[in-house]
Amino acid sequence: MWIARTKADLRQKLKSVPRPVILIPTMGALHAGHASLIDLARKNAGENGTVLVSIFVNPIQFDRTSDLKEYPRPLDSDLAVCEQQGADGVFLPTDSEMYLPDHSINVIENQLSSHLCGATRPGHFDGVCTVVLKLFNLTGCDAAVFGAKDFQQLAIIQRLVRDLDLNIEIITHPTIREDHGLAMSSRNELLLPNHHADAPRIRRALLSASTKTDAKEILETARIELESSPHARIDYLSLVNADTLEPTENISAPCILACAVFYGDVRLIDHIGIKD
Ligand code: PAJ
Repeated sequence: MWIARTKADLRQKLKSVPRPVILIPTMGALHAGHASLIDLARKNAGENGTVLVSIFVNPIQFDRTSDLKEYPRPLDSDLAVCEQQGADGVFLPTDSEMYLPDHSINVIENQLSSHLCGATRPGHFDGVCTVVLKLFNLTGCDAAVFGAKDFQQLAIIQRLVRDLDLNIEIITHPTIREDHGLAMSSRNELLLPNHHADAPRIRRALLSASTKTDAKEILETARIELESSPHARIDYLSLVNADTLEPTENISAPCILACAVFYGDVRLIDHIGIKD
């Protein structure tokens, strides 16, 4: 497995690789969720195609400096995961390699990102779109794999591909969870032990809410379960239309119940489909 740390090196290494090239963009601290994305890329690329993982903690998508500073960066074990899952190459740029000091052009998305995580993390999805477009351009990939866990991110990336006419297939992978139902996240390892033990209530709250048949009852059921925690603080809890991501009370159309919850400084997200 090769490693490219600069854009020039990446271009050089990709010059003669077999297609398709399938990219898995990540910020590292790789867990079983990321590993399954690499696995899926390997299956889609076939034995001869090229599977490329990027590991870059993208500073322009962080709205809180403490979150950026504390983001885990276990490089050696990340490289071991990539190797084990059968990646062919890893792109590992530095901040200055990705962003020149006078970098002044960004992608802006202002429809889907005005809700949910975008509403409480201003600029976050513009930072995601900008780095993902740069990674698509740098790698010239044919396809890229994204997790459904970050469903708003996935919807926005699909919009990026549609609206900017990118010739890239977006492959999706379902959410991988820990034993008690907590969605795997690089941030889980930052949780205090008692917070980690309490956090599966997020999944429980969404599951029990999803059995209700009325929008108000759905939101209320989830809220009661989350608010009965001594540790959890709701950032948002919202029922949205699955296509527009706008808040809705109409559950006869496909919709999604989504939340972000703080445990201390650690922010966790999860969602569930109400009707699909
Ligand atoms: P990161 O949080 O590292 O996630 C990288 C990819 O792994 C994303 O597509 C995410 O949806 C997926 N993923 C994370 N946890 C998962 C889980 N439990 N099950 C399945 N897939 C999971 O998302 C980002 O990085 C960044 O915003 C990025 C797209 C790399 C741009 O910087």
